[in-house]
Amino acid sequence: MTVSDFAHAVTPWVRPRGQRARTVAYEIKRHGAGALPTLQPNVLFNTRVRTTSNSAPASLMSVLVTGGAGYIGSHMVHALVDSGESVVVLDNLSTGFKWAIPRGVALVIGETGDEALVSRLIAEREVSAIIHFAASIVVPDSVSDPLGYYRNNTVNSRALIECAVRGGVRQFIFSSTAAVYGNPAKVPVSEDDAVTPMSPYGSSKLMTEIMLRDAGVAHGIDYVILRYFNVAGADPKLRTGQSTKGATHLIKVAVETALGKRAKMDVFGTDYPTPDGTCIRDYIHVADLVRAHSDALTYLRAGGRSATLNCGYGHGFSVLEVIDTVKRISGVDFRVDRAGRRAGDPAQIVAQSDRARELLGWQPQFDDLATIVTHALAWERKLGTLQN
Ligand SMILES: NC(=O)c1ccc[n+]([C@@H]2O[C@H](COP(=O)([O-])OP(=O)(O)OC[C@H]3O[C@@H](n4cnc5c(N)ncnc54)[C@H](O)[C@@H]3O)[C@@H](O)[C@H]2O)c1
Repeated sequence: MTVSDFAHAVTPWVRPRGQRARTVAYEIKRHGAGALPTLQPNVLFNTRVRTTSNSAPASLMSVLVTGGAGYIGSHMVHALVDSGESVVVLDNLSTGFKWAIPRGVALVIGETGDEALVSRLIAEREVSAIIHFAASIVVPDSVSDPLGYYRNNTVNSRALIECAVRGGVRQFIFSSTAAVYGNPAKVPVSEDDAVTPMSPYGSSKLMTEIMLRDAGVAHGIDYVILRYFNVAGADPKLRTGQSTKGATHLIKVAVETALGKRAKMDVFGTDYPTPDGTCIRDYIHVADLVRAHSDALTYLRAGGRSATLNCGYGHGFSVLEVIDTVKRISGVDFRVDRAGRRAGDPAQIVAQSDRARELLGWQPQFDDLATIVTHALAWERKLGTLQN
């Protein structure tokens, strides 16, 4: 039994009319150091592959998207499918959703740190490129559980990178974060400025950046590291969006409050050295961020050199400006309380973003806070109907 055999299994919730449902699970058997495992059916390893019958043939070179069932990853998967790529998703569904993945795309439920599984996937699906989103992402949680964050974000990424090298993967795109800059000495912050993360989350991402760079030098794998600033908004076609319960992203929290999903929201810190005293962030529309990944893939495939690039618009908005925009667009004057500062929040962080534009030819299309909020609000309304 091969991964591609499993990739043609059909689970009940996506099967086309008239087709018999079949759900399979498999165990990974190890055959000594360095050998690829074989996949044995019907022994549970909490790892299943499913797709619909219109999935791309396994003989096509595939793009492996880790974390493809999550917020940003699912937007990426839609964009790749839109552009005709063969895609396989690896996700453990810890914070992701099966429904966020478009029909016809293979989902492997498993861990990025499972080297046997990942190696097999790369070989069976002829994976030529990996876009690595899978991670734990909540900064305060990383402070209370640093070792868990280093395991998931650093140790598992190390395993994934090794599998990529051993499996001959040519291109690797990594989701990093502005958190690697900590509290920057100046804004906008450039890729060449000092990296001094202020949380285990930021450190866990920086460590992966370093591993990727070293592996690039030693093994020739080409990579683009994208340092995201504050990602927001939703697919303009509303096929997916930010759906995690209890998410802490400002725009998500504000639209939830506008729609009555929260009774009120807090502003953390009103005495920062900014014009209105609240923190300033660079909000990037998720569709523009995904476009930067597509551009990065095109760039690497054309022989572009490995690079580390900021993904932001180069200008920021304060917390109060964002809340005012959400109130204006939703038409709801929801309750906002002033609260104390949170530990580790820099006053202001804005990207210097010209390098991504110059190197990748990246041209953002949604650089407008009102548009970001409009799409976030529309998705939040749709999510309400999906969850009810
Ligand atoms: N959302 C932001 O504003 C933001 C900002 C900077 C960087 N990032 C980075 O972008 C990436 C995606 O973030 P997101 O907002 O979509 O988060 P998310 O939680 O919605 O998505 C993460 C996905 O990865 C999966 N996952 C986690 N650990 C896994 C593992 N070990 N194996 C397989 N799957 C696993 C989860 O189930 C989920 O589907 C992360 O790497 C994050 O650090 C996000």
